[in-house]
Amino acid sequence: MKLWGGRFTKETNQLVHNFNASLSFDQKFFEEDIDGSIAHVTMLARQGILTEEDKTAIINGLNGIREDIKSGALAIGEEHEDIHSFVEAHLTERIGEAGKRLHTGRSRNDQVALDMKLYTRKEIKEMDSLLKALLESLLRIIKENTETIMPGFTHLQKAQPITLAHHMGAYFEMFKRDRSRLHDIYERMNYCPLGSGALAGTTYPLDRDYTASLLDFYGPSLNSMDAVSDRDYLIEFCSAMSIIMMHLSRFCEEIIIWNTNEYQFIEIDDSYSTGSSIMPQKKNPDIAELIRGKTGRVYGSLTSLLTTMKGLSLAYNKDMQEDKEFAFDAIDTTKGCIVLFHGMLDTLTFQKERMRKSAEGGFTNATDAADYLVNHGVAFRDAHGIVGQLVLYCIEKNISLSEMSLEEYKAISPVFENDIYDAISMETCVSKRNTIGAPGTEAMAQVIRIYEEYLKE
Ligand code: ARG
Repeated sequence: MKLWGGRFTKETNQLVHNFNASLSFDQKFFEEDIDGSIAHVTMLARQGILTEEDKTAIINGLNGIREDIKSGALAIGEEHEDIHSFVEAHLTERIGEAGKRLHTGRSRNDQVALDMKLYTRKEIKEMDSLLKALLESLLRIIKENTETIMPGFTHLQKAQPITLAHHMGAYFEMFKRDRSRLHDIYERMNYCPLGSGALAGTTYPLDRDYTASLLDFYGPSLNSMDAVSDRDYLIEFCSAMSIIMMHLSRFCEEIIIWNTNEYQFIEIDDSYSTGSSIMPQKKNPDIAELIRGKTGRVYGSLTSLLTTMKGLSLAYNKDMQEDKEFAFDAIDTTKGCIVLFHGMLDTLTFQKERMRKSAEGGFTNATDAADYLVNHGVAFRDAHGIVGQLVLYCIEKNISLSEMSLEEYKAISPVFENDIYDAISMETCVSKRNTIGAPGTEAMAQVIRIYEEYLKE
């Protein structure tokens, strides 16, 4: 059934129907469409625009359609243009005349704007809880590894010793910001477009505050033209998801590197690895690679949506129908990646001995040796030069700073005493870094307490 046959004298060309239709994808929000319609008729009856009998018949009919779609008793057939037409047609088939009154004071423009918002809002909440669960696992790993020493890198070159807890804490911060971005979007988008009509509101005495409150919005949108053509929240959501994916992708890149034979910092569990069809020895980090790969796809949704909206005159234009597939794909991809990543992270084995050994090599304690000299009155720039000479000497002899004898130290600078060994031990290097945000035991304990509180909210 068409919602607009009246002024036409010819059948729609089949290719035109197919090209124009959105049912194959907008059926994803059939429940939101029904929820929106129930709120709309509840308000219409309260305002005396619909009778109580019609309202009850419509609501029962809509709930019946919801149950039948869910149970599979009602299949969503391709002959309808979109989910709005599908639901209305079936309602009228089931309850007769009253079904034709459902669309009073409403346009598909405000209807689709509402459905998409309801759907997005639900997905934002769900994504937030997936991120929260991921943060809970991260915090567990952080708490278990405040003493697990590993090298910290800059330029992917060993820089200074840190702890695994500190490294994981960096991702905790990223996902925490991601949640706060989702929260911001929710706050900004949560105004109800229903009642905006096609673009200019309606002449019926609708109570928009009432429908907004029935649907848990903060209030009605304040400009009907903007309300039917606003897709900012979707663009913001795709942007937030792009950032989530970028964070996951960086984490995956590290997991891939740490999982190599060269590093062996971690082992990805067999249940999250895959093999090679030719090389029997191989265990590949495909899941981490795929998450990294799917990041491009989510970025694509953001770029597509921005491009679709660019240059659209007010108010609704059919171009906007293109918002759905991009957004749905980005949402499903991002949620899927968070879940898979979480499972992979939860089952990782950390090779703590390897991490520690790696931290001991590569002169990660050179800064601390320089700090030792500074603490004994040497100017930092001179200390930097002296430690540079120590490093050169060690490279020549193929030893580490802690393997040099005190005589060798003294030959380069008489300032060194026996306590240099303690000053440059991995434990000292880490535990002395106690400004907030650093890996030192005290600083880390303080941050863990903050994270525990944060996750209680
Ligand atoms: N399927 C359409 C969309 O997703 C619904 C709105 C149709 N409105 C219209 N004026 N043709 O945007």
